[in-house]
Amino acid sequence: MNIQQIRGQKMITTVTLNPALDRLLQTDTLAPGETNRTRLLSAAAAGKGIDVAKVLRDLHCDVAATGFLGGPVADIFVRSFKEEQIDNQFIPIQQATRTNIQLFEKSGRRTELLDNGPTVDRAEYAALLETVQTLAEKSDTVAICGSVPGGIGAEDFRRLIRIARHACKYVIVDTSGKWLQVAVEEKPDLIKPNRREMSDFIGSDRVAGDEEIIAEAHRLVDRGLGHIVVSLGGEGAFIVGKSGTWRGKAPKVPVKSTVGCGDAMVASLSVSLAKQDTPAIMLQKAIALSAAEAMTFETAHVILGDYSRLLNQVQVEKIN
Ligand SMILES: Nc1ncnc2c1ncn2[C@@H]1O[C@H](COP(=O)(O)OP(=O)(O)OP(=O)(O)O)[C@@H](O)[C@H]1O
Ligand SMILES: [Mg+2]
Repeated sequence: MNIQQIRGQKMITTVTLNPALDRLLQTDTLAPGETNRTRLLSAAAAGKGIDVAKVLRDLHCDVAATGFLGGPVADIFVRSFKEEQIDNQFIPIQQATRTNIQLFEKSGRRTELLDNGPTVDRAEYAALLETVQTLAEKSDTVAICGSVPGGIGAEDFRRLIRIARHACKYVIVDTSGKWLQVAVEEKPDLIKPNRREMSDFIGSDRVAGDEEIIAEAHRLVDRGLGHIVVSLGGEGAFIVGKSGTWRGKAPKVPVKSTVGCGDAMVASLSVSLAKQDTPAIMLQKAIALSAAEAMTFETAHVILGDYSRLLNQVQVEKIN
C-alpha cells in the first residue's frame, strides 16, 4: 500500500467527555504524610478522544474534537489543539477539567492520583449535544471515547449516541463498565473493548478466554451491533462482524510506550469504517497503526513510514 492509500481523507469527529491534564512528576522516594519535592517531567492535554484526534492528524485526516473543558488548565488544551491543527469544538464548562498525577520514584515505582473530575450541568450538556449534531452532519465517523463526568446519566449518554447515529454514517464507542453496557444497547457501528473491558461486560470476575469473548461478540452482532474489535495488547486483536471472525497478531516492534495504543486503534477503525474497508483490512490496518504508535515515546503519535512498513507484516486470518 502506498502513502496515499493509507492516509485517511475523511472528516472525523471525536468526543471526549472527561479529558484530563496528565502531569508526570518525579521524586527520589515518596514519603507519605511528609513534604515531598517533585520535578515536573511533562504535562500533557490528554483524553481518549483527543488522543484519537492526534493520531488522525498524523494520517492527515480532517478532525474536529469536542467534549467539555473548564478551569485554568483549559488553556493548555487549546494550545495543544492549535499545535496539532485539531478543530477545537470543546464546550466551556464552569467546573475544572481534572488533573491526573503520575508520580515516579527512583526505584521505578509509580503512584497515580486520579482526580474525580467536574460535574457538568444541564445547559452545558445541551450545548454539547447541539455541537455533536452539527459536527456529525459533516463527518463520516463520530468516535465517542473514554469515561463520563458527573452530572451525566445513562439516558444522557444514550441520547448522545443516538444523535450521532442519526446525523452521521458511522459511530464508534470506546468506553468501559456501565457506559459500555449503555452504549451497546444503542447498537453503534463499532465498539473496541480490550480483553479486561470485554470480561467486565460479560460479568466475569476473571479475565475471559478467547472463545467466551468471541461468543459474546457474536451475540452482540446478532442483536444489531456492527463490529466488535477486541484488543489484546501485545497479542494483537480480533474483529467480529456479521461475516465472521478474524484474528491478527501484533507485529514484534521495538516498544517505546504502549500508552495510547488503544486510541491509535480507534483512529484507524474510524477511517476504515468511512472507507468501507472489509473486516480483515480494518483489523490489519488497526493492528499496524497501533504497533506504530507503540514505537514512539510520544503518546498518540505515529510515524507514517513505520505504519506503512508494518502494514505488510500484519497477517490476519479468518477463524470462523
Ligand atoms: N507491545 C505491543 N506491540 C505491538 N502492538 C501492540 C503492543 N501493545 C499493544 N499493541 C497494539 O495496540 C492494540 C491496542 O492495545 P490494548 O489492547 O493495550 O488497548 P487498550 O487496552 O484499549 O489501551 P488504551 O490504554 O490505549 O485504551 C493491540 O490490539 C495491539 O494491536
Ligand atoms: Mg482502551
